[in-house]
Amino acid sequence: MCGIFGCLSYKSQDLISKTLQGLKILEYRGYDSAGIAYITPTELKTVKAVGEINQLAKKLQTRPATKVCIGHTRWATNGTVSIKNSHPHLSADGSIAIVHNGIIENYETCRQKLATHGIKLKTSVDTEVIPNILCYLCHNKHNIHNFLKGQYVFCMAKTNNNSLFIAKKGNLPLFIGHDDQTLYVTSDTLALPQTVSEIIPIDNLDTCEITDTELKFYNHNHAIKKTWLPFSQSFIASDKKGFSTYMEKEINEIPNVINKILTIYQQSKTITTMRQSFRDKLKTARCIHICGCGTSYHVALILAKLFERDMQIRTIAHISSELTASTFLNESAIAIVISQSGETADTLACMDILQEHNIPVFALCNVTTSTIAKRSQITFPLLCGPEIAVASTKVFCAAVLVGYLLINDYATKYNDDFVKETTNVLQNARQILPTPQKAPKQIIIIGKDIDYVIALEAALKIKEVSYVHCEGYPANELKHGPLSMVDNNTLAIVFGDNSSNAIAEIKARGGKIMVPQFPKTDNPLAFISKIIPAQIFALDLAQKLGNDPDKPRNLAKSVTVL
Ligand code: G6P
Repeated sequence: MCGIFGCLSYKSQDLISKTLQGLKILEYRGYDSAGIAYITPTELKTVKAVGEINQLAKKLQTRPATKVCIGHTRWATNGTVSIKNSHPHLSADGSIAIVHNGIIENYETCRQKLATHGIKLKTSVDTEVIPNILCYLCHNKHNIHNFLKGQYVFCMAKTNNNSLFIAKKGNLPLFIGHDDQTLYVTSDTLALPQTVSEIIPIDNLDTCEITDTELKFYNHNHAIKKTWLPFSQSFIASDKKGFSTYMEKEINEIPNVINKILTIYQQSKTITTMRQSFRDKLKTARCIHICGCGTSYHVALILAKLFERDMQIRTIAHISSELTASTFLNESAIAIVISQSGETADTLACMDILQEHNIPVFALCNVTTSTIAKRSQITFPLLCGPEIAVASTKVFCAAVLVGYLLINDYATKYNDDFVKETTNVLQNARQILPTPQKAPKQIIIIGKDIDYVIALEAALKIKEVSYVHCEGYPANELKHGPLSMVDNNTLAIVFGDNSSNAIAEIKARGGKIMVPQFPKTDNPLAFISKIIPAQIFALDLAQKLGNDPDKPRNLAKSVTVL
């Protein structure tokens, strides 16, 4: 949630454009409003706009050369979406600007403390306490963690000062990178330019003062040294490969992703060893907990069904935030967490609980440099490359496939068959599940067993990008409640061919029925590509209704707050 980008250079250059480019890539972290602050020889200037980065860019037609610039793209947690509440926030005297990601839990106490010093804040946003504490209360800025509670990362710029100051408490991601001329601070390495050759990941309780000649690191207020790690940027942001949206591009990448996973999981010695260690652990495990949020939770539901069916081990899928201190956890259990981003706060909190119970935690994760990956015993990579659209598509298929391969072997000779079958489903998706000319008032999706989970994931995709009300149900549950919602403005999508009673009940109430017809196959993996027509359906419906499927309202891709 929220993206931070900053840069600093030893000679004045167009850092405003560099910051805007970085923010554009970080937009997946929030796109309610955005702002930048830059230092001129005489002042610290801020420019903000409500909406996406393009709105901010429009206000920055003139871009003076500068040596320091910081920027932010916001997903509102605390305070409404407005220019006033958007970042950067300034100290009362205007000398310090801050961009921040996270939550300051004790901001009310900080606000009161500042008030006793005569400092009145202008907004209700927690961030605003940070520049004021740095300006008026915290005289050694490396002590800032003693003043602030919560999880946060922030980046600060100051008038008459060619430096940046950054701080991190908790799990939120923050990196420094550099090329020949410029130092960068970013929430995600994806936003770093191609010229960057080295990075430093920032750790819990670090602070760092960045000037053009040196980086001074502290942890817990003790000076520390850090080493630059080699980095090479392979991500090219603007490349949608000829598709009009990232969502469509990413759905179209599914056959390649499947091919890559099948090949690498069958051939890589490292992955074979990792799979073996996991299987060894399974031998003594009496229970498996699988956790995730959103789409990753749906992967957990499918894997729980597969693990019980194929391994005969009790397996429970948890929505990460629903696994709490009171959940029954036994030490002879193992856990798997699933996350595309590897930064989801609810899943990290769930890992805390699992690890407090000494339960070994394995991860299925797309971003293998992420916090979840680092904190897991073994991380099975999902090999999808960056997924930019907020609605997860290719990573859903990848995570289900990797989960399947953890417990089942799939003969190499069938790889091509499955890739071809998936390509076939993709190419015929619009015939398998055509998007209606007119959006229905509501959509109900039903199925049984794994098809029920496909129904849940299809419903999530459709509602999140089209905003049409859409729910997934187990087919037989319809008559136990949801059937009361069915009328002649309802579309029901039915996965599987074993729900004839439910179909009859819907028809009898005037609902329209669509039953996606998939090509016949005996492939045990075929259920994985069943989601594709629903993903395309969601995309097409969103576009028909004039929505941007890549950036659904109110959402963000990487949810780093609880
Ligand atoms: C957000 C995204 C969802 C995603 C969920 C879990 O809510 O909008 O698309 O499924 O987070 O994210 P993760 O990165 O942990 O898989």
